Amino acid sequence: MVIYTLPENQHFEHKVNGQNTHLFTLKNRTGMQVAFTDYGARIVSILVPDKNGNLRDVVLGFNSIHEYLQAEEKYHGATIGRFANRIAKGSFCLDGENYTLQQNNGSNNLHGGPNGFHSKVWDRQISFKKKIDFYYISADGEEGFPGNLKVTVSYELTEDNEIVIKYKAETDKKTVVNLTNHAYFNLNGEGEGDVLNHIMQFSSEHFLPIDENQVPLEHEAPVEGTPFDFRTPKAIGQDIGQDDEQLKRGNGYDHTFVNRQPIAQVAASAYSPASGIRLEVLTTEPGIQLYTGNFLSGKDIGKSGRPYTSRSAFCFETQHYPDSPNQPQFPSVILEPGQAFESETRYKFCIKKEM
Ligand code: GLA
Repeated sequence: MVIYTLPENQHFEHKVNGQNTHLFTLKNRTGMQVAFTDYGARIVSILVPDKNGNLRDVVLGFNSIHEYLQAEEKYHGATIGRFANRIAKGSFCLDGENYTLQQNNGSNNLHGGPNGFHSKVWDRQISFKKKIDFYYISADGEEGFPGNLKVTVSYELTEDNEIVIKYKAETDKKTVVNLTNHAYFNLNGEGEGDVLNHIMQFSSEHFLPIDENQVPLEHEAPVEGTPFDFRTPKAIGQDIGQDDEQLKRGNGYDHTFVNRQPIAQVAASAYSPASGIRLEVLTTEPGIQLYTGNFLSGKDIGKSGRPYTSRSAFCFETQHYPDSPNQPQFPSVILEPGQAFESETRYKFCIKKEM
């Protein structure tokens, strides 16, 4: 088996758009280590013990800033904003004013546009190797969005092997906000083949069906009787190949699951019998986008020198519903001056010897 270690700091000491970038590490007493970079307020590595006590790096990523800049897939581990996921036709209307965004995913705007938060160098402050805060001010009009938006993303590593992510945003003009993290998980270790044998569970009774442009249709649909029913744990690969119109539109799972669990309860989980590592996600957000890495092409070579091929990872992107600015029936993504947007997501790792 590969021996996983953290990337070297020096390969993250670089300049992007004239700003210095770095690597930062949080550690806890059980041996878990999490590395971040200020380029995209991004998770670079998560080293977590497996059932035999060996550390595995369970997120995809690269060994240097240079490789992040060159990569085909831009979102590895990054903070996504100002608006995570899709805005149909790259436009929306707020108080009678039309806003036009770049169409960087067919006719959609995806993940805040080509120069979204994932591509920015964030300010940062690290406290006692346990917590790191990243700050960014997105200027009025940046990527087409209204209002100066002040954003904080804070990551904390607990002694219970949890990564606690807190988001906060404030604006000086009415705007829309949807923030998430785009970590690609493989609980056998990055580069260790596909995730189709991972056992997944979602408490969700509903998901958001999508149109041929991958934009949610107007109404949520019951998971009952569909490949989207993960209420009883099942392998990711069990139904992914079914002849199902929704799976075809996403090229696999690339859909929002409606989350009605409070943050005190597990909303979704994944478990790899091979490593014994289980990941639980808990969130205040109303949706979780399950993306099974359908578009990873194998061109990007990851930290341990192996290609990131299709379905070699999955993402649990906790967020508001895609295209909400155009779909008033969805939970609101509008932020007004004087209000604070706040959300929290926890990725908790544990060992599970048997199902
Ligand atoms: C999200 C989207 C996917 C894809 C990835 C990034 O998960 O829903 O369709 O764009 O981001 O490649």
